[in-house]
Amino acid sequence: MAEKRYPNTIDWDEYWNEADEDVRTDTSPSADLVLEPFVEFLDARLPDGPDTYADVGCGPGDLVFEVSDRYPETTAVGYDSAEAVLAENRKRARATNLDISFERAVLPEFEPDRRFDVVSCLFTLCYVADTERTIEQLYDAVEPGGYLVIHYHNRLAQAHYRTLAESPHEYLDEDSVWNPETFADRFELVVEGESLLSYERIREILGTWPQSVFSVADDAEQYGAHRHEPLVYVPK
Ligand SMILES: C[S@@+](CC[C@H](N)C(=O)[O-])C[C@H]1O[C@@H](n2cnc3c(N)ncnc32)[C@H](O)[C@@H]1O
Repeated sequence: MAEKRYPNTIDWDEYWNEADEDVRTDTSPSADLVLEPFVEFLDARLPDGPDTYADVGCGPGDLVFEVSDRYPETTAVGYDSAEAVLAENRKRARATNLDISFERAVLPEFEPDRRFDVVSCLFTLCYVADTERTIEQLYDAVEPGGYLVIHYHNRLAQAHYRTLAESPHEYLDEDSVWNPETFADRFELVVEGESLLSYERIREILGTWPQSVFSVADDAEQYGAHRHEPLVYVPK
């Protein structure tokens, strides 16, 4: 098999095994930045909640737990490549009586044995070299009438991350979410343009225009970087 030009930039199992509470919080950006617009979007588009929901690259599963809590009829599945974080999530799920499960999936491959009304992939595409194949696979897993919701990096983000990667110690310190020592490696795929998307490219790949989640969730606060890192939905 040909060697991948861009192997995973992070060993995510090792990362989650070693993560303390601060690292877990820093690596769960959706809880802070996306939860509010995401549930406002769901309330607007699917007021009774989705029957089925999958979050891919779920990390500690904040969105999965929140959606399940909010819509107890929903069957929710969190997928991640790292067994370490999935094991923690399963333990937390067992302590609830919600219909939640956690399964392993390694993007760009995503071939679950079912489809979902809503599939999300948030703050994860930037770590996957074959972003275009990834969104095809994710969209295939959406039920007709449902929605794919993704957060991705665009060319503006690439320019910004390149500046940070060139002089990380100038821009990042110990209070930053990102470690200046590892920033350039961690976001190599963004800096090298290997994991970028745009509205036009998403339309070309999926055949449907994406739309900003904030065009539906217009009461929700937009996170600062949303022009560089859009949060969009693609109806199916
Ligand atoms: C920055 S965290 C985001 C977690 C969560 N989606 C959020 O936004 O709060 C990225 C997650 O993607 C997972 N991940 C990285 N590469 C992956 C891949 N190729 N397939 C599936 N999950 C992956 C990591 O284990 C990690 O949990």
